[in-house]
Amino acid sequence: MDTHPNLRINPHRFRQDFLALAAIGATPAGGVDRPTFSPAHLQARAWFARQVKEAGLELRVDGAGNHSAFLGCAGPGAPVLLLGSHLDSVPNGGRFDGALGVLAALEALRVVKEAGLSLKCSLEAIDFTDEEGTLFGLLGSRLLVGALEPHHLAHPRGGRAAFETGLQRAGLSEAGLLSARRDPAGLAGYLELHIEQSSRLQQAGASIGVVTVIVGIGSYRLTFIGQADHAGTTPLAERRDAGLGAAAFTLAARQLVLDSFPGCVVNVGSQRFHPGSFNIVPGRVELDLEFRAADLDTLHGLEAALLELAAAESARWELGLEALRLGLHPPAEMSPLARQAVFQAAAGLELAAVPLSSGAGHDAQSLAPLCPAGMFFIPSTGGSHSPRELAFWDDCLNGANLLLQAALRLAS
Ligand code: GLV
Ligand code: MN
Ligand code: MN
Repeated sequence: MDTHPNLRINPHRFRQDFLALAAIGATPAGGVDRPTFSPAHLQARAWFARQVKEAGLELRVDGAGNHSAFLGCAGPGAPVLLLGSHLDSVPNGGRFDGALGVLAALEALRVVKEAGLSLKCSLEAIDFTDEEGTLFGLLGSRLLVGALEPHHLAHPRGGRAAFETGLQRAGLSEAGLLSARRDPAGLAGYLELHIEQSSRLQQAGASIGVVTVIVGIGSYRLTFIGQADHAGTTPLAERRDAGLGAAAFTLAARQLVLDSFPGCVVNVGSQRFHPGSFNIVPGRVELDLEFRAADLDTLHGLEAALLELAAAESARWELGLEALRLGLHPPAEMSPLARQAVFQAAAGLELAAVPLSSGAGHDAQSLAPLCPAGMFFIPSTGGSHSPRELAFWDDCLNGANLLLQAALRLAS
């Protein structure tokens, strides 16, 4: 089996792509703002589609708006190896999260095309719709694997109105989304390059983190319901203040995880007070809750404990409570086959690679139940989901070459 160990990406072209994409939705702080189907995100998608056509690759778009470059480098009917990530960002996010993986995938296909290789699988560089959850979370990848039914679409994380408007702006329809489902027989696997978004690789002095498991993520909208009242004339003891329930829950949820769920995390990312005024006791507070755990039993245990806590705090403050589950992405083990290919390719490139878990969610976790899915990290610094996110360019190049080499191993 010839795995073409000397093939490399074109560093100049890769850099040009990175800079061009980072300019779309660029923020003054040095990041990007490209929430799903925002004008900047649509512009980034159009840019990607142009690059695909200019490279002489086939542009494919499915009913979920996933769009990809396809290279038929194997015989007709051969399965396809997907390489990719996402072009959307969180609000006021960084330039590397998702974008790097899509660009490296595109560049890998160009190089394989230019080399005229014939492989056992065709290759597809894919940009998944709404990985970050502006509308839904892992939307495109979960539709591709058939993990979503119409009833799942009833309560998008970002609300129905944003979901409907977003689909409309992208020229997609809710009915058409489900057509993105693929036959697993046609999928040889999935590989994703991503920045680490943490500092473990830097601390370990390693160049590559080969992902073992991707964390499971649950999200809820909790609504604490009290009674709006005059903020000056209602005695403190007589108030049913929904804000107090939300605040008490937020603090207690952190303590619960610290005390009883080691290795897990919880986040209250947003709260909305209604009616929302200086001089009105908050009558209702909506709270956006997310929690993460690396195995399914713990994720379910954490979910139950947080719901119990919310009920206890609402009772303590004499409030009503509504809890709406908005998503539960199970944790996912990465495939041993894909991990081995990445480790072997890293050895071939003389890159020090270590196994690592992922505390961030990624499209690879959607693909994992369906086909051999793997992902790896390059070191990054400055955190992530913020404009401070940064990766050194040499590491980006290493990552792109590793994606190419690992893909060649899997496809040969
Ligand atoms: C995706 O980036 C997530 O982990 O929220
Ligand atoms: Mn990402
Ligand atoms: Mn992200």
